[in-house]
Amino acid sequence: MIKNKVTKKLTIKDFEMALGEKLSKFVQDSILSNEFKYKELSEEQNNELILLIIKTLVEENPVKTGDSRINDWEIGWEENLNLLKSKKLKIESLIPKYFSKYNVVRFNGRFIQPISERFEKNTLSILVDYIFDKYLENNIDNIYEFGCGTAHNLLQVRKVNTEVNIWGLDWAKSSQKIIALINKKGIDKKINSHNFNYFKPDIKFNLGKNSIIYTVASLEQVGNRWEKFINYLLLQKPKLCIHIEPIEELLDKNILLDYLSIKYFEKRNYLSGFLSGLKKLEKQNKIKILKADRNNIGSLFIEGYSIIVWQPI
Ligand SMILES: C[S@@+](CC[C@H](N)C(=O)[O-])C[C@H]1O[C@@H](n2cnc3c(N)ncnc32)[C@H](O)[C@@H]1O
Repeated sequence: MIKNKVTKKLTIKDFEMALGEKLSKFVQDSILSNEFKYKELSEEQNNELILLIIKTLVEENPVKTGDSRINDWEIGWEENLNLLKSKKLKIESLIPKYFSKYNVVRFNGRFIQPISERFEKNTLSILVDYIFDKYLENNIDNIYEFGCGTAHNLLQVRKVNTEVNIWGLDWAKSSQKIIALINKKGIDKKINSHNFNYFKPDIKFNLGKNSIIYTVASLEQVGNRWEKFINYLLLQKPKLCIHIEPIEELLDKNILLDYLSIKYFEKRNYLSGFLSGLKKLEKQNKIKILKADRNNIGSLFIEGYSIIVWQPI
């Protein structure tokens, strides 16, 4: 039995182990600016969680991704919009409500129980800081988040670059309303938005020169229908494409938590065949993959934050 009373704190080393590399001073400082207090779980608690996942997979019918979900997203982001309207400059209004539903996260191959507030959201923010710090060069003029929701990730760009134009795209119109308000309230004056559907990319929407695009937990929503979006990007040729998404190919079917995560991806119709598809494009000399790594960080049901970086040739 693991003792379950001791409060621990995620350290820089824990994140370096998760990401498999030494982290920059910027990311280290970002980790230190959070609390990340948690408890280990007992064997019994761990088994209860495994049972909950299996029951969900076998007995429940969680809603699947696809075209019919647009309304759910409209309604969800409308709630954040109303919060933002009612508060003065409150960035917290932009935090999606789906984080921390079960107050359990997976970290380096096990479940842990967060004590600090917004633990999962803040671990994801570290990953966002990590990609911005590593890939947002000074000569970039525009950065686009596709499937940006409330645009809270985009605002993190300002920690590393105050000049770049930031663009939030989403199929939900309430996302564009949020961004208009962010601009109007002066939270960010260089933020822009555009309505964009992965299933029907607006090929007339041209990316500016010197652009980077990224997605965070949103391409996950297309299942195996990612090809049109990738074709759009191949035409637009941004300098870099970055994804923090669930990537089945990077998990190991012979490890229990990975296996359950892959089964959950299937159950919800999350992103599938994406990395294999990119590898095919690489063989055809259409793209170059610069990074494709899992990072051992996730929620109760999935490890959903693997990082892929590629560029059109
Ligand atoms: C889990 S949320 C993530 C939002 C944001 N990236 C974040 O990290 O907070 C998924 C987002 O993908 C968007 N989305 C889902 N399907 C889409 C589609 N077909 N085209 C464009 N956006 C889509 C949703 O509207 C939602 O904003």
